[in-house]
Amino acid sequence: MREGKMINLSLGIMIIWVCCSLGWVNGEDPYRYYTFQVTYGTRAPLGVAQKVILVNGQFPAPKIECATNDNIIVNVINKLDEPFLFTWSGVKQRRTSWQDGVLGTNCPIPPNSNWTYKFQVKDQIGTFTYFPSINFQRASGGFGAFVIQPRSVITTPYPLPHAEIDLLIGDWYDTDHKTLRKQLDSGVLLPLPKHLLINGQPSSTLILKKGLTYKLRISNVGIATSINFRIQGHLMTLVEVEGAHTVQEVYESLDIHPGQSAAVLVSLNRLPKDYYFVVSSRFTKPILTTVGILRYEGSSIPPSKPLPIGPTYQLHWSMKQARTIRLNLTANAARPNPQGSFHYGNITVVRRLILKNSLTKIKGAVRCAVNNVSYVDPPTPLKLADWFKIGGVFDFKTFTDIPTPRPAMLGVSVVNVTLHDFVEIVFQNDENTVQAWHFDGTSFYVVGYGSGDWSYKMRKRYNLVDGISRHTVQVYPRSWTAILVSLDNKGMWNLRSTIWWRNYLGQQLYVRVWNDEKSLYTEADIPLNALKCGKASKY
Ligand SMILES: *[C@@H]1O[C@H](CO)[C@@H](O)[C@H](O)[C@H]1NC(C)=O
Ligand SMILES: *[C@@H]1O[C@H](CO)[C@@H](O)[C@H](O)[C@H]1NC(C)=O
Ligand SMILES: *[C@@H]1O[C@H](CO)[C@@H](O)[C@H](O)[C@H]1NC(C)=O
Ligand SMILES: *[C@@H]1O[C@H](CO)[C@@H](O)[C@H](O)[C@H]1NC(C)=O
Ligand SMILES: *[C@@H]1O[C@H](CO)[C@@H](O)[C@H](O)[C@H]1NC(C)=O
Repeated sequence: MREGKMINLSLGIMIIWVCCSLGWVNGEDPYRYYTFQVTYGTRAPLGVAQKVILVNGQFPAPKIECATNDNIIVNVINKLDEPFLFTWSGVKQRRTSWQDGVLGTNCPIPPNSNWTYKFQVKDQIGTFTYFPSINFQRASGGFGAFVIQPRSVITTPYPLPHAEIDLLIGDWYDTDHKTLRKQLDSGVLLPLPKHLLINGQPSSTLILKKGLTYKLRISNVGIATSINFRIQGHLMTLVEVEGAHTVQEVYESLDIHPGQSAAVLVSLNRLPKDYYFVVSSRFTKPILTTVGILRYEGSSIPPSKPLPIGPTYQLHWSMKQARTIRLNLTANAARPNPQGSFHYGNITVVRRLILKNSLTKIKGAVRCAVNNVSYVDPPTPLKLADWFKIGGVFDFKTFTDIPTPRPAMLGVSVVNVTLHDFVEIVFQNDENTVQAWHFDGTSFYVVGYGSGDWSYKMRKRYNLVDGISRHTVQVYPRSWTAILVSLDNKGMWNLRSTIWWRNYLGQQLYVRVWNDEKSLYTEADIPLNALKCGKASKY
């Protein structure tokens, strides 16, 4: 009898648990509904009218602000004259790459139609962004902030700031994405961007109150340029990057690479007047500089020169700073348990990928390649081909785990990895420009940066204790960066350059995280509204 009851009880618990954890939504967590109408519009951020992409009439796009575990429903209405997709950069969708919004997972939303994304921001906090993922549209705007606040029961490892300010900063051209795209398609590389914009403006004035502490959430939404951010007379305490709480180091200036986000605390504890803040480009010639003003409320004293200086080309400065960005092991993030409770440094690596980027020519056209394969999107999304078992779309032989001396070629690069594999990825950059790499569906631990060629003995120098966990990492010119990643999220995930013209020209690939067990515990079913295209049209 007793045994029977026990079984019933545990079965009951199991059923409740199953109901709450299956599918893309959790019945108990709040829903947030958005309707995003995507149109062209005219703005003149550089003083001359140009065509930009607006979301609900706004440039930049509206902010998505939610809390850990919220269900996000976004109905996207595409009013452009070409197909469109949003991707939610760094926002991890558990067990479902179906909502990732890249061409490897989704068919694009045709013009004059709409499609609804549905996902849950399970177990996450932090500063993220979203943006158009295809057709180089991102160069015309459409990007917005995506902020996930902690639940009220979770403590934050720093005193709560008086207010938060979002700074979306990025390089900008005076021509639209179609012009830039045409140029890339004809094999001509893009010139240096014209300027750096702050929230879509050529400058910005922040009016803040003396004696208070503010949190600035800074995201580099640019398509090519690394930036340095600094405030005259004020120090910044770094508290979070891309969803992980950092060791709270104090900085005079901070480098932020394309696709990265950082949250800093700034206390208004100086003489109440106006101060300059400066954003300047890194590793470019000439240097692009944008100046804003931090005004103490009520101040009538203008800021005084000189502008605060920052690094320009100093590579080692940047690499040294990068190593100081570490994980606070005792702090929590979205859940009450400490971030350091996952001892990534003690896990055995079962697979190593060495990814070498190159700028090359294939059949006369300028292309970017990884291990000599330049990625091209097949008309059928990889995920749909995989799900419906449609052959002839991709294979696991095109791409090799390590660089192979062979002529560069176009191809559909997919790496087949077993679910839960612990993988080391080394980004080897032999070019003399800075690179930035992003992984969808997961965060990774950044364990090392070094100059020259990576070799096995570099592993002795890895930070196996408190490397930061993030979704986008830079690779310095003629240098390498190493990451460790636990591939626990089943799906087809994009690993890509966030330097957007390089991405457009093929510097990306997909990682298929897989096991043969078909179970809703590991992967959600194809959504009922999934768009079908290419060879998947008839399914
Ligand atoms: C398109 O939008 C309408 C409401 O405007 C909605 O009912 C419908 O589900 C949307 N279609 C898709 C495929 O998301
Ligand atoms: C790490 O987080 C804890 C909260 O768990 C906080 O008290 C501490 O100040 C943080 N340490 C550093 C160095 O940031
Ligand atoms: C890793 O394991 C060693 C012993 O095997 C232990 O001393 C060390 O504390 C562990 N490190 C972490 C970060 O868990
Ligand atoms: C192909 O790969 C080898 C080794 O990585 C490299 O030396 C060579 O330049 C590459 N070829 C092209 C055409 O990119
Ligand atoms: C891909 O990986 C999965 C999971 O490990 C494995 O079952 C499958 O056989 C692999 N497929 C190929 C073609 O290697």
